[in-house]
Parts: sequence; C-alpha cells; structure tokens
Amino acid sequence: MFRNIIFLCLTVLNTSGARSYRDNEWNGNWFPHSPNKQDTNPPFVNTNTMTRNDNRVEMGISDPQCDDGETNLNIDWDNNPVNYTCLDRKDLYKPSSYIHPVHTVERIPTFYVASHKCMNESIQYSTSIPTFGTHRPLWPIYGEYKFLPKQRWLHNLEHGAVVMLYHPCANKNEVKLLKNLVKGCLFKHIITPYNLLNPSRPLALVTWGHSLEMSKVSENLAVRFIREHALKGYESTFKNGQYNYGILQRADFVSDLYDSVVCPTATNIMK
Ligand SMILES: *[C@@H]1O[C@H](CO)[C@@H](O)[C@H](O)[C@H]1NC(C)=O
Ligand SMILES: *[C@@H]1O[C@H](CO)[C@@H](O)[C@H](O)[C@H]1NC(C)=O
Repeated sequence: MFRNIIFLCLTVLNTSGARSYRDNEWNGNWFPHSPNKQDTNPPFVNTNTMTRNDNRVEMGISDPQCDDGETNLNIDWDNNPVNYTCLDRKDLYKPSSYIHPVHTVERIPTFYVASHKCMNESIQYSTSIPTFGTHRPLWPIYGEYKFLPKQRWLHNLEHGAVVMLYHPCANKNEVKLLKNLVKGCLFKHIITPYNLLNPSRPLALVTWGHSLEMSKVSENLAVRFIREHALKGYESTFKNGQYNYGILQRADFVSDLYDSVVCPTATNIMK
C-alpha cells in the first residue's frame, strides 16, 4: 500500500544516565533540567523501589483539598471552545504521504518518579507534546473526550496508556481512521482534540516517553508504535481512572482488562 511507504525520523531529545557531565563537555539536553536551571516540576528520586516513601501526593484519592476532579478545573483548562474547534484554514492540515512521521523519544531515567500536584498549583511543560512529567493525582477514565488537559492525560501515560491527539482542523477521515485503530488496539486509551499540534502533522500518538506525529495515518506504523510502546509506563496499575469531565465515550475492553493482546485484529503488520 502506498501510504505505508514512508520514512520514520527518530529524534532523540533527551539523553541521560547515571554519568555526570561538566557543562563544557555536554552538548545534549539535560534531564529533566540543567543543574543551573530552576525546575518548577522537580522529580522525586525513588530510592526504594518497593514503596513510595517520598512526599508525593497520593494518587487516585478524591480529596476536595487537593484534587476531586471537580474543583478548580479551570487552572488546567478554561473550557474555551478554541481548544476543540477548527478556527484555521483546513487546507493547511491536508494529509500528505510526503510528510514523514516523526517519532520522538525522551530517555526517561529509571529512577525518575513524576510528582503529583494539587489543583491549587499550575503545571507547565517545556514541550508542546509532553510525554512524561508532573501531573494531577486523579487520572481520567479511559475513553474519548470532548477535551482533556495534558495535566490529566500525562497520568494515563504513566500507567501505560496510549493517548491519541488530533488537531480540530485535521482531516475528518484520517481522524476517524486513527480513532478506530486505537479503540481496536487496547482498552487503555485516551482520545482528545489538541489544538497545539503542528498543521503539517495534526495527528499524534503518545505513550510514556514517546510520541509519533503524523500527517496521514499509516496503519502499519501506528500499530507497531502501539505494540512497542504502550503498556510500558512507569506504573502498571490496571485500575480505571476517577476523572470524567468531558468524557464522550468510555473505552471498551479489546482483548481483556489487561490488554493481553494489543491490536488483535491487525494481523498484516510488517515487523
Ligand atoms: C496546595 O494544596 C495542598 C493540599 O492541601 C498543600 O499541601 C500545598 O501546600 C498547597 N500548595 C500551595 C502552593 O499552596
Ligand atoms: C487552548 O488553545 C489556546 C490557543 O491556541 C492555547 O494557548 C492554550 O494553551 C490551549 N489550552 C489548552 C488547555 O490546551
């Protein structure tokens, strides 16, 4: 098939590891920030892999003093229709087989533990499609949303979900194609419009540490991406979420609760 003949560009944004570098011998990006830069979202260093004995706000517990999924939601999103409505020239978002997909990899150290912030504090990210980071304690119920802020879906990524983002001006058929593909691959998915995507690649799949931006859906590539990168978040809980503001459709089980078989009907996929 023609649309499968595309090139995949691998960009390594962050490199990290236990080594330390002096400023003058390091040309890459620091993770998650350089020693000289103030970090507003400091990660916790998990010294005990069995228990969470850090001062991280507990997850999944509804607490009106912190996060109950209802109070102060406008700190993340002010309900502005601009975030799910196409207000731009649609032809700028036209799908093309000549625009190659971009796979971005963030090398997240194994000791990195994202922190939770209550709704009294804002959370900012330094990239337009964050693939890891500080997020809200309550995570969204799996499924499709009218709009879901990134501070929420980041938490699902951490639990191994695939998040599908699409620009509101993206081609309707391509959006439908990708939605059906994602829904048919795994239960652990989130689908939401996202108007901060680039017009040349208005479709994206995101997992913990990875994003795949596309102009046009390649079933082959999308299935391979999901099989390789989904269900590999930092935490592997199978518990569904608690947050449901703006949900349009809850996710259905595909293989089973554990997504034991990912993309079961995609049998023709090249390795
Ligand atoms: C936000 O609320 C939490 C929980 O009540 C509290 O621990 C934290 O200190 C508050 N943060 C700020 C900046 O007020
Ligand atoms: C909503 O869209 C506006 C305009 O592009 C943007 O500045 C803002 O960050 C978006 N909000 C969210 C929550 O994505």
